[in-house]
Amino acid sequence: MFVAMEYTNHDFSDLDKKQYLQTFGRFQVTLERGEGSHVWDIEGNEYIDALAGIAVNVLGHNHPNLVKAIREQAGKLLHISNFYLSVPQAMLSKKLIELSGLDRVFITNSGAETVEGAIKIARKYAHSIGRGGEIISFQGSFHGRTMATIAMGKTSMQKGFEPIPAGFHMVPFNDLDAVKQATSKQTAAIIIEPIQGEGGINVASEAFLKDLRTYCDEQNIVLIFDEIQCGIGRTGKMFAKDHIGVQPDIMTLAKALGGGVPIGAILSNEKVSSAMEFGDHGTTFGGNPLVTAASLAVLEAIEAENLIEEASKKGQWMRDELAKLALPSIKEIRGKGLMIGIVFDFETKPLVAKMLEKGVLANATAGNVLRLVPPLNIPIADLKRVIEVMHESVNEMKSND
Ligand SMILES: Cc1ncc(COP(=O)(O)O)c(C=O)c1O
Repeated sequence: MFVAMEYTNHDFSDLDKKQYLQTFGRFQVTLERGEGSHVWDIEGNEYIDALAGIAVNVLGHNHPNLVKAIREQAGKLLHISNFYLSVPQAMLSKKLIELSGLDRVFITNSGAETVEGAIKIARKYAHSIGRGGEIISFQGSFHGRTMATIAMGKTSMQKGFEPIPAGFHMVPFNDLDAVKQATSKQTAAIIIEPIQGEGGINVASEAFLKDLRTYCDEQNIVLIFDEIQCGIGRTGKMFAKDHIGVQPDIMTLAKALGGGVPIGAILSNEKVSSAMEFGDHGTTFGGNPLVTAASLAVLEAIEAENLIEEASKKGQWMRDELAKLALPSIKEIRGKGLMIGIVFDFETKPLVAKMLEKGVLANATAGNVLRLVPPLNIPIADLKRVIEVMHESVNEMKSND
């Protein structure tokens, strides 16, 4: 039998290096269990999880309602073909429509697959009105690692995977003139993260998103909001779009939607959805009873525990505390709610490694940004410790310079 304490983190690191496709550059920590905002590795070391599986575990780890929903559903019906109906899929779809104000739902298995589906809907609609199928995305954006989604991202992610699908153009973020210049009769859709995650927690300006909506209406271009990272309560509203009241034609969700089970959702308005016909899209696993029952439990817990308000309050508290530190190496604090990007005047990868040694999981992105996307129910005491550990780590790094 497998007994965790008989193994070390290193044992699994060695195995990983031998057997797993080496694409991640992982830390030598083998996480074994979690409770709330804490996780433990196989040697029994405890960590505060300020990363939450990169904005996935909104309810933290081992949340009783989520675990109960998964257990109950697993004992009833795990999976059926999408040729049949299920109660959890219908109830989750109803909930997502109510929350988003959009009209139709398609449940997927991951973020990138959700974005791919959104592009298919946008293209089908665009072709139906005589437009081309080109897609405009933004510098600093990240939409996934499939072929179409890398075509919308950094060129460094495309290297070695040519030929890259055609018909994708990238323009500077928050720049409407650049959007207008890149647009033609061939443009089907514009896709934007209202708050860029991987790109370094860059917030799209309110004016830009409003102007983009107006421009898309004028040109009959489909506007897609990718809320895979910023959606589901993280920013202090259910969706980041709700901060400004701009409604996209399509919205993509994943990550926190399942609180840890793999699920995504494409939400679309009736106008664009009506272009899709039988046989135009499909999935084997997407929207099965297990993941949709889990997702419903996540959304219910977010409401029952006021986690959206919590995210807003705790996010403000974090920003105030970070500002009080007045660290000269902190250049900017970006984001909304509990989607926090702390911009340093140095590369943050070593900082993240140091914080891990001191018992905090965090993430470095866009070179010099420390990304914190903890569970929405993380206690203030843990956030306080995250700040202390960050501060101590920065000081130690500076004294070693
Ligand atoms: C905004 C955004 N879109 C899409 C994706 C891709 O999601 P996945 O890794 O589940 O394919 C991510 C993942 O980080 C993301 O942050």
